[in-house]
Amino acid sequence: MLLGNSIRFRWDPLSFLSACQGIDGPIVAIEDGLYLVSGPELIETILHNRDDIFLKTGSSEAGDMVSFPSSLMNSSGEDWSLKRRAMQPDFTLRRVASGLSSTRVITEAHLEQWQTGPRSGDIRKLLQELCLDVGCQFLLGTVLDEEGKEAFLVLSDAIILKTREPVRLPLHCFDRTSYRLTSAREAAKAVARAAIARAGQEHGKAGSNNWIGSFVNRTSVEDAEWLCDEFCAMVLSGIEPMSAGLTWTLHLLTSHPDVLQRVIAEVDALSSSEWAAGEGLAGLHPFPEARASLLEALRLFPPAWLTGRTVARDTMLGDFFLAAGSAVMISPWINHRSARFFDEPDRFRPDRWMDGTLQQRLPRYAFFPFGGGIRRCIGEHFSLTHMAFILVCILKRFILKPPSKTQVKAYPALVLRPLGVKLALMPRATAAY
Ligand code: HEM
Repeated sequence: MLLGNSIRFRWDPLSFLSACQGIDGPIVAIEDGLYLVSGPELIETILHNRDDIFLKTGSSEAGDMVSFPSSLMNSSGEDWSLKRRAMQPDFTLRRVASGLSSTRVITEAHLEQWQTGPRSGDIRKLLQELCLDVGCQFLLGTVLDEEGKEAFLVLSDAIILKTREPVRLPLHCFDRTSYRLTSAREAAKAVARAAIARAGQEHGKAGSNNWIGSFVNRTSVEDAEWLCDEFCAMVLSGIEPMSAGLTWTLHLLTSHPDVLQRVIAEVDALSSSEWAAGEGLAGLHPFPEARASLLEALRLFPPAWLTGRTVARDTMLGDFFLAAGSAVMISPWINHRSARFFDEPDRFRPDRWMDGTLQQRLPRYAFFPFGGGIRRCIGEHFSLTHMAFILVCILKRFILKPPSKTQVKAYPALVLRPLGVKLALMPRATAAY
């Protein structure tokens, strides 16, 4: 039975997770020492980690399994706590919303290129490049040159490939995917070092506004290697989940023309002059239909579909004994698609989010695309505001149509990558800018 679970989980994790929805019990053993937890109360115990038992997976074997061991994402204990406190002020809603005017300029430049490029293509790749520029603008106050962008896109692909392997060898094993990942990482780090040095010099100048510069000034960071790791990890955190979330949203919207029409009507309600004057830059609130579609896409296809913790010492989780060293996995995929929490759980129904009360009515860990507890995503406000804004910009500019035959697949790696979302882009006659 356990061997069966292990093989199914490693080879086809999404169908394994979907099958877990029918299982009566909040914990499923995947193999000896590896458990999948879906009960909302137990997820809360793990993520809030009040007794310091559930350690972020990766922290102990960081050097060998993850690309940027000293980044916030992969650090732990006091080291993590110092970094999180130092970085938090740069990710408040007010701070990230102030970057929307730059995101607008960048998005418009990209959409201009989409308009003159091929009329149909893999929208994920276009969005990945756009999100890379948006992320770098926020972090550095500028975008990378073509070579620098390529280095990060290659690294992102290498990470996705590595993290989809059913049995993952540590990076020092130098198997093909490890080799590809380590060399891509070194190339990206060289780009990062040069970019950080430039951003640091720029920061002294009047009007410069970038995370790296202000962060270094505010905290007097001296560990250049850490800053480099942090920058790389942040860029990758922006590229993959944001572009995946946006691609899923566009895929779902174009396959539900009635919903798409409602979002377009909302976008069009803002007149060209209001749009040109910068209305809508305040964040999500002027576009509730767009926001609801985004939340619904994050429900059905949570980009961060699996996360894990290592058990530091013997403990009970509910009625279940966990030995020290066991691993617990948590996947929003299970609860996000469970009929216990959502009516018609497999249907794309953004209307469920429209009155703004669903999130309060749900148990805490029924919907958690950004995780929870102390390690909750630091980029949540950034992602939601900037993704909604990019979505609005796209719908203002283009009519999007899926080809008649299309094979879309979810590729469950570090992020739930959408494969095969091809959309025809037709400039709207009423394009407002
Ligand atoms: C749709 C977009 C995003 C999604 C769905 C997402 C999801 C998540 C989730 C679920 C976690 C918690 C992982 C865990 O508990 O193990 C996380 C952590 C994190 N995310 Fe995001 N993320 C997104 C975008 C971003 C962006 C844009 C940034 C940075 C600019 C970012 C930076 C981070 C960092 C640094 C952490 C680690 C926080 C810590 O451990 O203290 N994320 N993210």
